[in-house]
Amino acid sequence: MGLRELRETAEALVAPGKGILAADESGGTIKKRFDSIGVESTEDNRRDYREMLFRAEGAADHISGVILFDETIRQTAADGTPLVELLEKQGVIPGIKVDAGAKPLAFSEGETVTEGLDGLRERLAEYRDLGARFAKWRATYSIDTASKGGRRPTAECLDVNAHALARYAALCQEAGIVPIVEPEVLMDGDHTIDESFAVTTRVLAEVFRQLRAQQVAFEGMLLKPNMVLSGYECATQASVEEVAEHTVRCFRLTVPAAVPGIVFLSGGQSDELATAHLDAINRLGPHPWQVSFSYGRALQAPALKAWGGQVDQVAAGQAAYLKRARLNSAAREGSYTEAMEAAS
Ligand code: 13P
Repeated sequence: MGLRELRETAEALVAPGKGILAADESGGTIKKRFDSIGVESTEDNRRDYREMLFRAEGAADHISGVILFDETIRQTAADGTPLVELLEKQGVIPGIKVDAGAKPLAFSEGETVTEGLDGLRERLAEYRDLGARFAKWRATYSIDTASKGGRRPTAECLDVNAHALARYAALCQEAGIVPIVEPEVLMDGDHTIDESFAVTTRVLAEVFRQLRAQQVAFEGMLLKPNMVLSGYECATQASVEEVAEHTVRCFRLTVPAAVPGIVFLSGGQSDELATAHLDAINRLGPHPWQVSFSYGRALQAPALKAWGGQVDQVAAGQAAYLKRARLNSAAREGSYTEAMEAAS
């Protein structure tokens, strides 16, 4: 599989006006989401919910690809059509989460290392046969406020996670699958935006050092990072403009221009704030890479609520999803305004 196909897929995923829907919640996470609306997490309910999103007409105008969970890539719609086929018919590219989750890192209280490399070559071959053209692997890093003597993330956490991300990315490219490399610095805590900036910069520098060392082709991958924010419990919250400035500066220092796109995760921001931040970041452009979204919660939260597990609320759920997709598509071009929130 050549670099050309990888590059074309990566570029299609960040085509103008388009971004990615992350619908790859693991069993535990989707249960949490369903608990919040009082719906039981059964296989059929998970299928119904995701089928609702994938059938939303017009989504392909704003959504280039969808990240699926292992169960979903094998699932069929209520009428027997494979869910992957629903996406392909709309012109949406199917992707797959391939990591096995973040597990406690030995000798490092409060830190994790993401597992899932064993047997990955074989799993990637199967996923490609099932239709996946891109994949995702998420590493997480927590900040333990340096100003108070904390030492997280540790050098060993940075090292092992970057090493695993690069091993994953190389295996993906070998299999003709575009790797989305997702190092997520968690924003839980009272750290300042400057501490976020320092940690995110260190994390990304190590990730790209390992990617280069393991011969990953930057042109055939995408980066899915956190934005540089104030910790959610920080007394002083940075403004939208400050977030945009810190975020752009961090990525200009660390992300090679050969990477076709940066697709942000929302990471627990409200849906409207995630849109406003993406817009402000794009207004500081032009950037060397496309700057778009790969949101989970920030695209789905209103849709999940509107649906509420009710068959007669499918249209309402789809409308709520399409609205967030449309507004994030505008933000991805730097043309979002708050007034757009009022329109349905
Ligand atoms: P959020 O946008 O909800 O953070 O989810 C994105 C994602 O894929 C996390 O791995």
